[in-house]
Amino acid sequence: MSSSRKYFGIIGKKLHSLAKAELVSLFKTYQARSIQYDHLSSVVRAEGSAELERVANRAVLTKYFAEQIEEDEYEKRFHGKTFSCILFGTDKKIALEVLVKKIKERASAKVCLNNPDFHVIIHPKENLVGIKKGSQRINWLLRRPNLRNFFHPSALDPRLCRIMVNLARIRENDLILDPFCGTGGILLEAQRMGIRTIGLDVVKKMCGGAKQNGVEEVVRCDSLKIPIKKSSAHAIVTDIPYGFSTYISPNTLSHKLVSDLISRKIYAVKRMVVMCKDSDLEKISDAKVGCETYCYRQHKSLTRCIVVT
Ligand SMILES: C[S@@+](CC[C@H](N)C(=O)[O-])C[C@H]1O[C@@H](n2cnc3c(N)ncnc32)[C@H](O)[C@@H]1O
Repeated sequence: MSSSRKYFGIIGKKLHSLAKAELVSLFKTYQARSIQYDHLSSVVRAEGSAELERVANRAVLTKYFAEQIEEDEYEKRFHGKTFSCILFGTDKKIALEVLVKKIKERASAKVCLNNPDFHVIIHPKENLVGIKKGSQRINWLLRRPNLRNFFHPSALDPRLCRIMVNLARIRENDLILDPFCGTGGILLEAQRMGIRTIGLDVVKKMCGGAKQNGVEEVVRCDSLKIPIKKSSAHAIVTDIPYGFSTYISPNTLSHKLVSDLISRKIYAVKRMVVMCKDSDLEKISDAKVGCETYCYRQHKSLTRCIVVT
């Protein structure tokens, strides 16, 4: 059995509660134990196997992710190594004078800014020292929907797509279903994380476009009429149709669609993450009881909400 390690993630002030929910979801995805955070703090801590290091490359809104190093491990972990420091909080002077000095003295380690062996994250207020994990720095500009083979204005920002997939608590090789897949934005991000996908869309052009963009499996059908309600998917992650540019079946109200989805009247999957607009959410006060909701303002006439259930 692999030994248990401690990890922590630091999130920013922007979209604070969504960032925290994403990080906690990812910790749960990889079976972390004793996840700890308080609502005002920027730090989420957890304990678990080395699998938790995968969180570092999946999380979008986590600024830094690190393996926590206790004081009695400094010698073993840093001996003779070079390191650079990333300091947090207002107590930077204490960090430099006390913690960095301790690492240098106890482990004969040296500070080096040019290609060091480790980047050490120090948060003196939380009494945390850790080795930064995660090698990928995603260039989101290169993933803009308008650079794909097929573009449609309804395509979601790839960062949001990835956050939604992360909120679904699914692991590599699990299967997600997007019953309103459009250009395939959500599924493309899931595939990049090694998750299997299936997309449905009623519009032929959208199905062809999602395939051109690289979605592995796309089926043209009306998601409201398919006979199999019990899906083999581990989760549904979807962005329901709304707005002028998107097709919505005649006599279908978008708020009713959200309500039917989250109350499992259409699909019976365990975990569901649904993007909708705030006015739809306001109309379904009963159905959303027990769901987590995260809203953010896209522009002056659109506030988007993510419902997690
Ligand atoms: C908001 S868009 C999805 C955008 C997508 N997230 C993306 O990044 O491209 C919603 C999609 O639902 C599809 N749609 C609407 N009603 C449908 C139905 N009854 N069954 C399947 N697809 C439907 C529309 O054609 C549209 O492509």
